[in-house]
Amino acid sequence: MRRLDRHPLRPYRFAMGLKTFTEEFKQEFYQLLEARRSIRKFKSDPVPQDVLDRVLAAGMQAPSGKNFQNWRFYVLRGKKRDEYLGYSQKSWTNIQPILQKQLKPSLYAFTERFFYTLGDAPVVILCYSMNNPQEHPMTSAGSVYMAVENMNLACFAEGLGCCTMGAPLEIEKEIDQFLGVDQLDDYKAGHLKLLCGVVLGYPDHEPPKAPRQLEGRVTYL
Ligand SMILES: Cc1cc2nc3c(=O)[nH]c(=O)nc-3n(C[C@H](O)[C@H](O)[C@H](O)COP(=O)(O)O)c2cc1C
Repeated sequence: MRRLDRHPLRPYRFAMGLKTFTEEFKQEFYQLLEARRSIRKFKSDPVPQDVLDRVLAAGMQAPSGKNFQNWRFYVLRGKKRDEYLGYSQKSWTNIQPILQKQLKPSLYAFTERFFYTLGDAPVVILCYSMNNPQEHPMTSAGSVYMAVENMNLACFAEGLGCCTMGAPLEIEKEIDQFLGVDQLDDYKAGHLKLLCGVVLGYPDHEPPKAPRQLEGRVTYL
């Protein structure tokens, strides 16, 4: 088991206080948002430890309700990641009937393969919320998702790709047992809750950008 100690973002840190960013940086930042897309096919290259540490540390820069920092990440690689494939396949069984109706055949076949192989992603991160009775569960969940988005963006900044997956929720209890979190007192007390998975690695495809709709999404009053 490995734990983060020295801060992985130390080389990128700046003196405390607000910083003004250059026009060039702003441009690149918005390009990063635009360039991010879900990656579902990965090269077999492993993700170096320092890169993975930075991605996780980026997640933990996120805001959180009451600053509880209630995210808990379980990182699977190697044998444990291989074992997880069986669970991904199982989660597909529940989702399959919906997607069979919704997707065109080629995309359906691709998605099925993705669930069976996780696109050969070398890393799977299972993201939990440690809920606190002093915080609304929705706020706790939202805080974890903010961290997940930070990780999505950090992946792209690092030249990695990733896909956030709600599918593990289909077999939530089984995953809790697989990770052993069901043995923790916080879990037994009902505080520790699975929210999603993030699979990541170096991208091996360039999917088109899923179009965004602006209509009806924002109302100024
Ligand atoms: C909370 C959440 C759950 C998701 N679950 C899955 C999933 O189980 N399987 C999958 O292939 N993609 C999943 N996605 C990825 C979405 O399909 C994807 O973000 C969306 O189609 C937009 O495409 P883009 O990420 O390329 O912009 C999920 C995304 C989010 C934010």
